[in-house]
Amino acid sequence: MDKLINTFGIDARCTKLLEFYTVEELKEFWPEIAEARRQGKLLIIGRGSNLLPTGDYDGLVVRSRIMGRTVVESHAPSGSLPTGEGGGRGRSSRILVGSGETVDDVIAWSLSQGLYGMENLSLIPGEVGASAVQNIGAYGVEAKDFIVSLHALNLETGEIVEITNAQCEYGYRQSRFKNDWRNRFIITDVTYQLSTSFTPHLDYGNIRKVLEDKGISCDLKDGQLSAQLLRDTIIDIRNAKLPDYEKEGNAGSFFMNPIVGKEKFEELIAKYPNMPYYPAANDMVKLPAGWLIDQCGWKGKTLGRAGVHDKQALVLVNKGGATGEEVVALCRQVQKDVLDRFGVEIHPEVNIV
Ligand code: EPU
Repeated sequence: MDKLINTFGIDARCTKLLEFYTVEELKEFWPEIAEARRQGKLLIIGRGSNLLPTGDYDGLVVRSRIMGRTVVESHAPSGSLPTGEGGGRGRSSRILVGSGETVDDVIAWSLSQGLYGMENLSLIPGEVGASAVQNIGAYGVEAKDFIVSLHALNLETGEIVEITNAQCEYGYRQSRFKNDWRNRFIITDVTYQLSTSFTPHLDYGNIRKVLEDKGISCDLKDGQLSAQLLRDTIIDIRNAKLPDYEKEGNAGSFFMNPIVGKEKFEELIAKYPNMPYYPAANDMVKLPAGWLIDQCGWKGKTLGRAGVHDKQALVLVNKGGATGEEVVALCRQVQKDVLDRFGVEIHPEVNIV
C-alpha cells in the first residue's frame, strides 16, 4: 500500500501510487492504467489539494510529475480564444507547462519572464493538470481565460492527443474532464496564453481597497502598481482568509457557490437584502456558499475533529486527526442547515473518494 497524498491531512493509503516524470514513462504505464480504469479502480490526482479520502483507496492512483516551463511563441494581437489577457489586446506569448508543475510556481516564473495575466490565481496550491480539469479560479480570473490547449494521454487508445480550450466546455469549476471525460484522459502539458503587457483585474471583492490601504494607487498611469505588487496583495488576502494546509489540513473551498434561478434569488434578496451575489450566465445568480454557511452560524464551529474555518466559512478544516468520514459528517450537516434555512442546495467542490 502507498500513501494517498492529500492536503486535508487525512491518513489514507491506496493500493498503488504511480508517478510519471515523462510522457514516455506515462505511455509505458498505459496498459496498467487502462486495466485499472476498466475495473473502475483508477484515481487521477494532482497534489491532492482538492481531495478528501474517506478511507483507503482500493485501486491505482496516478499522478503527473512532468515538469518544465517554456515560452513557446510570441505574437501580435489576436482576437481568438482564450478570452483572457493574452487573447484580448496587446502582444501575447504562449507558455507550455508540464502538468505536474504547481500553478503558483508558474505564475511566479511567468512574471519573471514579463508575462502577465494570471496574478489573481497566485498561491492556489493546485497543479497545472488540475487547473485544466477543474478550471480553478480566484478573484475574478479563471484558468480557462488562459488555456489555449493541452496534451493528454487518451486512456482508450493509448495515444497522445491535443485538446483545445473550446473542446473542454469550461464553466464555473467545470469541464468535460469532470463529466463525460472523467478518467478518460491524463493531461501531460498545458499551453497558456499570457500578455506581454500588465492589465490588472482589480474589481473582485476588496482587492482595490487592500492596495489603497497599502498606499498603492490602482491607476496604472501613476506607475505604482506592478504585477508583482498585485501578486503579493493576492497572497496577503488569501493568507488572511484561508488556512495553511500544512498547519490545519484543508482543501480550500469545500463547496461550490450555488447558482440559482431568478425567482429563488428574488425571494432571498427580499428577505436578506445584505446577501452578496454575482450575476451568472442565462439570467441565473451565483450566491456565496461561504455567506450562507456563515449565516447558519457555522463559522468557527466544529463537529468531532472537523471544523468550519473561522475566517472563511466555505473552508472545512481538519482540527487534528480527523477522519474523512468526520469531515463528510460535517459536510452533510452544513448542507442540511443551508437547505433548511435558505432552500438552497450546496454541493462539494472537493473530490470525496
Ligand atoms: N462571506 C461571508 N462569510 C464567510 C465567507 C464569505 O460572509 O465566512 C462572504 C464574503 O464577505 C463575500 C462573499 O461571501 O461577500 C464571497 O466570499 P469570498 O470573496 O471569500 O469568495 P468565495 O465565493 O467564498 C470563491 C472561490 C475561492 C476564491 C475566492 C476569491 C469558490 C468555490 N471559491 O470563494 O476559491 O479564492 O472566491 O475569488 O468559487 C478554492 O476554490 O479553493 C478557493 C479558495
